[in-house]
Amino acid sequence: MIEPPASAKTGHWRRARVKINLSALSHNLCKVREFAPECQIMAVIKANAYGHGLLTVAQQLSDADMLAVAMPEEAYALRAGGCSKPILVLHGFCDAMELEHFSKLQLSTVVHQYRQLDLLLKQKLSSALDVWIKVDTGMHRLGISPDELDSYFGQCRNSKNVRNVFVMSHFANADDSANSLNNNQLVSFINVTNDIDVDCSMANSAAIMRLPKSHFEIVRPGIMLYGSSPFADVSAVDLGLQVVMQFESILIDIKKVKAGESIGYGSTYTADKDITMGVVAAGYGDGYPRHARNGTPVWLNNQRCALLGRISMDSLCIDLNDLDASIGDRVVLWGKELSVDEVAQFSDTIAYELLCNAGAAASTGG
Ligand SMILES: Cc1ncc(COP(=O)(O)O)c(C=O)c1O
Repeated sequence: MIEPPASAKTGHWRRARVKINLSALSHNLCKVREFAPECQIMAVIKANAYGHGLLTVAQQLSDADMLAVAMPEEAYALRAGGCSKPILVLHGFCDAMELEHFSKLQLSTVVHQYRQLDLLLKQKLSSALDVWIKVDTGMHRLGISPDELDSYFGQCRNSKNVRNVFVMSHFANADDSANSLNNNQLVSFINVTNDIDVDCSMANSAAIMRLPKSHFEIVRPGIMLYGSSPFADVSAVDLGLQVVMQFESILIDIKKVKAGESIGYGSTYTADKDITMGVVAAGYGDGYPRHARNGTPVWLNNQRCALLGRISMDSLCIDLNDLDASIGDRVVLWGKELSVDEVAQFSDTIAYELLCNAGAAASTGG
């Protein structure tokens, strides 16, 4: 049998690569402290740390006071990887067995529905755990109604299974500072927590930066840790954040296209003059957004090039103009030179989705 090249044994078969700048992650954590100096920080590292790598990010964020994930399995993976920090599971537990795992692994749980409260009060646990009662102040996703809080709080306080009780809520529109729901949610949260002696948490990244009244004792940053801006009107750089994920590939072809000829599936781009185009080895199979529009910027040899036509599974086309380019040149899809927020805008989505998708693709052979 013919021996394949050594690269076949590395498990990396993608040309599109994700690189993570760990010191930028630490820098962004310091930024959170600057915005909320009095608060404890719960770093949100769900969805594989927004695509950046669950364990790596958890280890790098050793200065965070606690961590938050969505699912029990993410928390189990953190404990299995040696993480001993307080970890909050935002979805909480689904059944008695999961609750017992939480207790044994000392995971904190959200309680957002009666079923969970009931299980928590009935079961005899190996050891007590920290409970975060989630109040729905207007987002209408997970959470109990504000008028149920007193009763939940009293029952948790009196349970042997509960060590400390916290109260939390989540904003629906913190990225839109003018939205009146922000203040309504905040007022509702203050009204129900005012008379109880408890540590509270409400602020995500956008609220950390723009709604200081929502900081309370513990803030929960996610996207700002990864160097992306939650706001349409301010860039991550202007917020003092540093890029963490660099998503790159290489140029694999250069060719001429004549005026009137079209490019790619669906022929969605037709050249209006003779052009030189390049083909980049990255597509939606690598986590690049298929809905990126014609004209989405791509960075090559210190210049922005415009995306041409539809994204394929493993390639995309760009206008090389008069750019001096060669096959094998490095192409930045997003990163330091080109903000993921900008690519997200061109793709009618948010950076959260792009980061998660590129990270997910990279973790399967990236
Ligand atoms: C409950 C909760 N808190 C905090 C965050 C962090 O939000 P962001 O990434 O916008 O900072 C999230 C993320 O969706 C969340 O679901």
